[in-house]
Amino acid sequence: MNSVLGTFLAILFAISSAAGRPTNEVKSIHEQTVKDTSKEIAAYSNIAMDIINLAVNGNAQNRSYNRLAEFVDSIGNRISGSGNLDQAIKYMYSALKENGLENVHLEPVKVPHWVRGQESAVMLEPRNHTIAILGLGSSVGTPPEGITAEVLVVQSFDELHQRAQEAKGKIVVFNEQFVSYGETVKYREFGASEAAKVGAVASLIRSVTPFSINSPHTGQQDYQADVIKIPAACITIEDAEMMARMARRNIRIVLHLMMGAQTYPDALSYNTVAEIVGSQFPKQVSVIPIQELNSSSHV
Ligand SMILES: *[C@@H]1O[C@H](CO)[C@@H](O)[C@H](O)[C@H]1NC(C)=O
Ligand SMILES: *[C@@H]1O[C@H](CO)[C@@H](O)[C@H](O)[C@H]1NC(C)=O
Ligand SMILES: *[C@@H]1O[C@H](CO)[C@@H](O)[C@H](O)[C@H]1NC(C)=O
Repeated sequence: MNSVLGTFLAILFAISSAAGRPTNEVKSIHEQTVKDTSKEIAAYSNIAMDIINLAVNGNAQNRSYNRLAEFVDSIGNRISGSGNLDQAIKYMYSALKENGLENVHLEPVKVPHWVRGQESAVMLEPRNHTIAILGLGSSVGTPPEGITAEVLVVQSFDELHQRAQEAKGKIVVFNEQFVSYGETVKYREFGASEAAKVGAVASLIRSVTPFSINSPHTGQQDYQADVIKIPAACITIEDAEMMARMARRNIRIVLHLMMGAQTYPDALSYNTVAEIVGSQFPKQVSVIPIQELNSSSHV
């Protein structure tokens, strides 16, 4: 059941290729409506099980996986504002039409346009070592010649504040322990601004994940409005741990960081919309937040 929901959500995610305000007014559903709707939906649980069986065990087995695989293999990553996203939208628009959905259309919407560019990080001291990085979404780039600086490794914001005197002119490496995504992601979101406040020149975050095979895991970050913007990227668990071990041995670490990231004006994109028109109330549209439904019923 969970994996089926996962597949369904993955498809929804793939379809809703650009987030944004729809042009039509969408009314929020108040609690009673959610309760009624949950009850109504629960009455379809046998039909839902038939559909799930069809997808998991029946004629449609692997169909969702295969479609999703073809989609991601053909298009690749689809960061907002990119040519890949435009292709993804065209692809989904055609696929939805071909599959007989109704009122398939695109709604124009402006989206952030950040481009990662070329990037690299190399350890120069105590030994030459290439560090795998991925810039964090919305990060500024480095100057063209890059930034060469000594590293300060910290395990937490508390440690950063205690050692604020040591941070000036350094590249701060956050080697925070992974607790949970929700808890630990604050280092990715706010690490750059916290490091900049104490005079750091760049911020590297241990990837927010419990598992790594030397794989950086990136995502969005947020600059605080009144704080200088410094380049921010994620590094792997392995490199963060290694630099933490070196620092504990009082070994001086120097890195050269290069990031070509740039933010452009918001780009034109589209929400991709398709409908299955109801047989009974074809004019009515229900917007059902899945999270809300799930918490108030056992659908
Ligand atoms: C679906 O994929 C699984 C795993 O690859 C495979 O064992 C199974 O035969 C596939 N089913 C169909 C209908 O192709
Ligand atoms: C490290 O690399 C630099 C050039 O990138 C080179 O000049 C230097 O000799 C290397 N050091 C060692 C110890 O290999
Ligand atoms: C849905 O509800 C069940 C039972 O309350 C819960 O175990 C599950 O984590 C919920 N799923 C989501 C996606 O919220």
